[in-house]
Amino acid sequence: MSTYKTAPGVEAALAGYRLPEKLGFGLSTAPVMFSALYANGAWDEGELLPHGPVEIWPGARVLHYAELVFEGMKAYRVGNDTPSLFRPQANYQRLVRSATRLAMPAPSEALFMTALTAITRACTPFIPRVSGQSLYLRPFIFGTEPGYQIRPSLTARFLVIANPAEVYSAGPMRVSIERDDSRASPGGTGTAKTGGNYAASLRATQVASERGYTVALWLDAGTRQLIQELSGMNLFAVIDGTLHTPLLDGSILEGITRDSLLTLARARGLTVVERPMRIDELLEQIRSGVCTEVFACGTAAIVSPIELLGERDGTEYRPRDVDVVAASLREGLLAIQERRVEDPFGWVQPV
Ligand code: COI
Repeated sequence: MSTYKTAPGVEAALAGYRLPEKLGFGLSTAPVMFSALYANGAWDEGELLPHGPVEIWPGARVLHYAELVFEGMKAYRVGNDTPSLFRPQANYQRLVRSATRLAMPAPSEALFMTALTAITRACTPFIPRVSGQSLYLRPFIFGTEPGYQIRPSLTARFLVIANPAEVYSAGPMRVSIERDDSRASPGGTGTAKTGGNYAASLRATQVASERGYTVALWLDAGTRQLIQELSGMNLFAVIDGTLHTPLLDGSILEGITRDSLLTLARARGLTVVERPMRIDELLEQIRSGVCTEVFACGTAAIVSPIELLGERDGTEYRPRDVDVVAASLREGLLAIQERRVEDPFGWVQPV
């Protein structure tokens, strides 16, 4: 771990924090955060400081041109005194890929790991010890240089904030098939974890929620047939006893939970198929019973069952099973993440 500064007030902030009874997802914020600044082509050493508002120029490029990339990851402490991170290097590599896509500077791996280790260690007493709960960590980088010229910001800030949290979405989800708006296309920013992708999804989320759905399902911008992902989660379907998920086609997020589930499923002997998946074919397979289950996954969501997929005209498709294969994979993944079983893949990293 490299050296970093600790600001006055950190100890008092930590001493004054109490875990709320109801955690929710992102409702309670850990009392400290880590910050590093980029200027003149280099990052400073970084600082742990009390969680609070940050100053920003009104003309900062993040506020006008959405120069922002982020990650979502978790620290676990179920049944252990020391916390652990799950595949932090995979998050680092994806953050670098996202930053590269937006021509932004990324911190070194050493600075990234220092930030995560510092905040995780400081927050150890507040990392929930209930299975399924964790300390959600949100590292992000944004362009801070003010100005309207459309070029990469010459200054940036790297922040890590954290939230003791439950799973993102409780209970089986109702999925709204989005056939009007599109979110990402090959060559765009769909594979980058950047705020603009989430902003592009908000109208569909609002419409979905007004109609009683949990989340929107995105289709490709060209043919409106190929399944991409849900807002913030990758999609899986159980078809004829095998596990199917959309191919990484350059427009969907390369989910680390997605990748972990594929590895876990293969290790269990399940046949796993990554391929272009057509929505109309999947709906027909649900209707005929060939597709028995659909579920979603993501760092925040872990593995979330799906109860139904619905069209704007009210037609609904309900897979026969809800949370069968999903529950088994969720338990298998969580058992590794929470160090309840041996980690055969080298994913867990105590800090
Ligand atoms: C995550 O799973 O970490 C995400 O960033 C998705 C978001 C919907 C919470």
